Amino acid sequence: MPSDRPIGVFDSGVGGLSVLAEIRALMPREALVYFADNAHVPYGEKSADAIRARCRAIAAFLLEQNAKALVLACNTATAAGVAELRELYPELPIVGMEPAVKPAAKATRSGVVGVLATTGTLKSARFAALLDRFAGDVRVITQPCPGLVERVEAGDLDGPQTRALLAGFIEPLLAEGCDTLILGCTHYPFLKPLLRTLVPPQVSLIDTGAAVARRLQDLLDARGLSGQGDGALTVWTTGDPQRIAQALPALWTGPVSLLYSTV
Ligand code: DGL
Repeated sequence: MPSDRPIGVFDSGVGGLSVLAEIRALMPREALVYFADNAHVPYGEKSADAIRARCRAIAAFLLEQNAKALVLACNTATAAGVAELRELYPELPIVGMEPAVKPAAKATRSGVVGVLATTGTLKSARFAALLDRFAGDVRVITQPCPGLVERVEAGDLDGPQTRALLAGFIEPLLAEGCDTLILGCTHYPFLKPLLRTLVPPQVSLIDTGAAVARRLQDLLDARGLSGQGDGALTVWTTGDPQRIAQALPALWTGPVSLLYSTV
């Protein structure tokens, strides 16, 4: 029997909307509840303990909204918190996300791959394990990008400040011969048009939003939880709803109900 219950998706802010767009494209009839933890963005410079506490609180909130599945649309939250959430909710379909090391290692021709991600993701034991498993002979150069999430949160996807910051992060990667760049934070896909102007055309940009959507669909199908709903989207934010309302048009098309949460 199809389930009309919503899919719960969360991130530190608006970045996870890049993943939500892939979910919407693949499963247009699913009802979606998106939680943007704007009062605590960025997660990338916070301790793993602090992020885990946010993950627990947000997961509990989304389950109160009757979510039938959870998506951690955030690499940093996944690195810190997905294992604990799976322990807490063993029956619940939970999808996390990780930088796309495996496909990038397959795709590179120069043998040098760059990873743009948050400090928290790159420092995590989960990321170290990912490299051990999938990097093989490929040289993987990591680049933390402090400040970039804030540019996307401000809705500045192509202004001079964002351009200068991004150019500074990718310049050393290109100098080392990277031909494949992993966008290891869900805020960064919104910067793809800008990135394309900063890297040579032969450099591939890889992110995992579409793969996450396919994994979610497989899990829902396997459990008979796929929905035939109205495709409504509710967005909760712990920040100022007016600020997110200003940033939304550049990041999402379609109607949204925007609500404030004190979680
Ligand atoms: N969008 C997030 C990620 O994928 C977190 C960014 C942040 O809050 O630092 O890592």
